[in-house]
Amino acid sequence: MVHTLRREIPPPRCPHLWLFQFLVLVGLFYISSGLEQVSKAVKEMATLSCGYNISVAELTKCRIYWQKDHKMVMSIISGTVTIWPEYKNRTIPDIDNNLSLVILALNLSDKGTYTCVVQKIDNGSYKREHLISVMLSIRADFPVPNITELKEPSPFNVKRIKCSTAGGFPKPHISWWENGEELNTVNTTISQNPETELYTVSSELEFNVTSNHSLLCLVKYGNSNVSQTFTWKKPTSAPLDNQALSWGWLCFYIVIPVAFVITVVFLCKKLRRWSEARVEMRRPRSIYQGPAEAQEQTV
Ligand SMILES: *[C@@H]1O[C@H](CO)[C@@H](O)[C@H](O)[C@H]1NC(C)=O
Ligand SMILES: *[C@@H]1O[C@H](CO)[C@@H](O)[C@H](O)[C@H]1NC(C)=O
Ligand SMILES: *[C@@H]1O[C@H](CO)[C@@H](O)[C@H](O)[C@H]1NC(C)=O
Ligand SMILES: *[C@@H]1O[C@H](CO)[C@@H](O)[C@H](O)[C@H]1NC(C)=O
Ligand SMILES: *[C@@H]1O[C@H](CO)[C@@H](O)[C@H](O)[C@H]1NC(C)=O
Ligand SMILES: *[C@@H]1O[C@H](CO)[C@@H](O)[C@H](O)[C@H]1NC(C)=O
Ligand SMILES: *[C@@H]1O[C@H](CO)[C@@H](O)[C@H](O)[C@H]1NC(C)=O
Ligand SMILES: *[C@@H]1O[C@H](CO)[C@@H](O)[C@H](O)[C@H]1NC(C)=O
Ligand SMILES: *[C@@H]1O[C@H](CO)[C@@H](O)[C@H](O)[C@H]1NC(C)=O
Ligand SMILES: *[C@@H]1O[C@H](CO)[C@@H](O)[C@H](O)[C@H]1NC(C)=O
Repeated sequence: MVHTLRREIPPPRCPHLWLFQFLVLVGLFYISSGLEQVSKAVKEMATLSCGYNISVAELTKCRIYWQKDHKMVMSIISGTVTIWPEYKNRTIPDIDNNLSLVILALNLSDKGTYTCVVQKIDNGSYKREHLISVMLSIRADFPVPNITELKEPSPFNVKRIKCSTAGGFPKPHISWWENGEELNTVNTTISQNPETELYTVSSELEFNVTSNHSLLCLVKYGNSNVSQTFTWKKPTSAPLDNQALSWGWLCFYIVIPVAFVITVVFLCKKLRRWSEARVEMRRPRSIYQGPAEAQEQTV
């Protein structure tokens, strides 16, 4: 082990080489720090400046190329603008504004380094006149989530709420918290739109309505996060706030008394009929013994 290590790291034979490497590194740092940076959000518009002005007269003697990671985006040759298919209908040149490249409705895949090259005709041949690189970074922030109450039937004394947000990148992680403790969720879904690469996320939570709550829904993505808090105040008069309960009280206060009254009325009628029947039963002899006239008189 020790021997091989020694062999792999020979002493620097030429100290000037190290100095040269150092200078190259300094040069690279200088170039990269000169790289222009533009940061935009998805769906916004970006204007990437070539930082080079040209007069209309000069335009016919120039070739201007805008490329991204060595792929063509736009060219202006002898005043004729060509836009490559991926950028058609959402890219325009702004020749008067330093030969800018304007991309409308940015999309996540637009991030990258764009290079502008200006060539001028000089004694019959084109010579490079100007070169600049612009780094475009794209953000896709999730909006602050919404928390909604679900009307789905749930167990007695339990409510279900749903937290959701959409249109962000990268892949999010969603969680629920109360008093610094993570809670168990019922139904968490994360989906990605294959076209825009943006994510949609939602999560459901059940809680006991019999106590106060302050529930935090946290969505983390990349180095960022968004959150929303849902507060629940234990209702002071349960019948007004809980549907299940109010039905119970409705039953207690209206249905049962009404049923009681109906039953009492019914029983009273039955009792009267029964007592009438008993009165009739006591005089069967008068009905059969007497003549028809006598019977009529008694009725
Ligand atoms: C053109 O670029 C220069 C230098 O990069 C800048 O100072 C100037 O404001 C730009 N012009 C316009 C019209 O944006
Ligand atoms: C280009 O022209 C604009 C005015 O039209 C000027 O403000 C800007 O400084 C010029 N940019 C360069 C790089 O010369
Ligand atoms: C997003 O960018 C890709 C490649 O850059 C392009 O093909 C696609 O059409 C763009 N989508 C939208 C909605 O602009
Ligand atoms: C650009 O728009 C035109 C007309 O709206 C349409 O015909 C064409 O297909 C579009 N091109 C691209 C690349 O979307
Ligand atoms: C143009 O190029 C020719 C040779 O290719 C040379 O003789 C001539 O001097 C050049 N003219 C200028 C103005 O550079
Ligand atoms: C939240 O709800 C409001 C109103 O219903 C809506 O405008 C907004 O887009 C929603 N936000 C999210 C992140 O869904
Ligand atoms: C989970 O959520 C999805 C979509 O929001 C819904 O279709 C599904 O029924 C839910 N499942 C449960 C067990 O609630
Ligand atoms: C709700 O909490 C109360 C006490 O705070 C408890 O008696 C009851 O069982 C709980 N209900 C559910 C469904 O967890
Ligand atoms: C719940 O919140 C209400 C209103 O803020 C408060 O009056 C009550 O004391 C709280 N109950 C408990 C158990 O914390
Ligand atoms: C959420 O982001 C903020 C800054 O925007 C940060 O201060 C906080 O610590 C983050 N929270 C979590 C839980 O990551």
